[in-house]
Amino acid sequence: MNPEFWQNKNVLITGHTGFKGSWLSLWLQNLGANVSGYALPAPTQPSLFEVANVAEGMHSVEGDVRDLDGLKKMLKSCRPEIIIHMAAQALVRSSYDNPVETYATNVMGTVNLLEAVRHSDGVRVVLNITSDKCYDNQEWVWAYRENEPMGGHDPYSSSKGCAELVTKAYRESYFSDGEQNCALASARAGNVIGGGDWATDRLIPDIIRAFTQSSTVVIRSPNAIRPWQHVLEPLNGYLTLVENLCEQGSEYAGGWNFGPAEQGAMPVEWIVAKMIEAWGEGASYELDPGTQVHEANYLKLDSSKARGLLGWAPKLDLSQALEWLTEWYKICRQGEDMHAYTLSQIHTYQNMGVR
Ligand SMILES: NC(=O)c1ccc[n+]([C@@H]2O[C@H](COP(=O)([O-])OP(=O)(O)OC[C@H]3O[C@@H](n4cnc5c(N)ncnc54)[C@H](O)[C@@H]3O)[C@@H](O)[C@H]2O)c1
Repeated sequence: MNPEFWQNKNVLITGHTGFKGSWLSLWLQNLGANVSGYALPAPTQPSLFEVANVAEGMHSVEGDVRDLDGLKKMLKSCRPEIIIHMAAQALVRSSYDNPVETYATNVMGTVNLLEAVRHSDGVRVVLNITSDKCYDNQEWVWAYRENEPMGGHDPYSSSKGCAELVTKAYRESYFSDGEQNCALASARAGNVIGGGDWATDRLIPDIIRAFTQSSTVVIRSPNAIRPWQHVLEPLNGYLTLVENLCEQGSEYAGGWNFGPAEQGAMPVEWIVAKMIEAWGEGASYELDPGTQVHEANYLKLDSSKARGLLGWAPKLDLSQALEWLTEWYKICRQGEDMHAYTLSQIHTYQNMGVR
């Protein structure tokens, strides 16, 4: 990505109070963009949004993506050139308990945002953040390419597949014939990890919670292979893609995978063992004997398109990513300035070359 591109750009992030939204907001603030955010309050306590004082450097508005009028007002008041849509009910397990809320937020929330964009002027780029789980997972060994069918077994995954279909329909119906000069794309990344995630039922926050309470980590699905990557990797991809969408226009509109390197796909049990090694202090784990809800076993992304057309590639290997995040939580526990520490990780990352 090109840091100069972002100076004084008006950027709206939905879901800026969440884990990825907070990292992205801090990064964009630091690049000199005028950042606005529209979201419900931070979904966890504690949260990166509060711990790193993210609101300080941006125009933060509490709002619901299920509220079309609220979104229209937001666009009118902050007049963004670029929108990165991250607001979502982002947890697979919650989606089993709350399917209506999940679809309302993830599908109708996307419809509402695109509808608000359709009735506004000046938006040049919309990037919709969906998920690797949007694909119809055949549980095979091959990686998924952008042109493969959408699907999703559980409500969360299926809602992300639906959000992709909505994005495509809006692009083809309203944003492709020059009627509106706005490039519309979507981005699919794997399970992201990094400091500041305190979500329930996500592996890394569950491990960190156990570490900090000096209790044994309980893991489900030890052999499940997930495409792990540090949160800064897909964010770097999103920023690079947006620059290209602004400069090359609709040529870059469409779906994009930003997956981890092949070695980034490792079993849950391997991750836990690595983190125990990095944390020390007598940390340990055991397997959860309970019955588990269905979770897809194997899902690999093919990121050749992003590598070839954007020059995007991961910078951190999985061991480094785990070290960075474990260090982040250790520093946080010491009561350090997490705004400054998070920015220091962003700086280090930004100045690294690709592997
Ligand atoms: N974390 C991951 O591993 C991962 C992987 C792939 C894709 N994603 C996607 O990336 C995006 C961000 O994920 P995250 O991990 O930061 O999630 P998160 O749960 O930490 O944050 C979600 C954000 O959405 C907001 N939100 C939820 N419902 C809302 C509503 N009705 N109206 C307005 N705002 C609402 C929350 O307030 C929060 O700001 C999501 O779209 C998620 O599906 C995440």
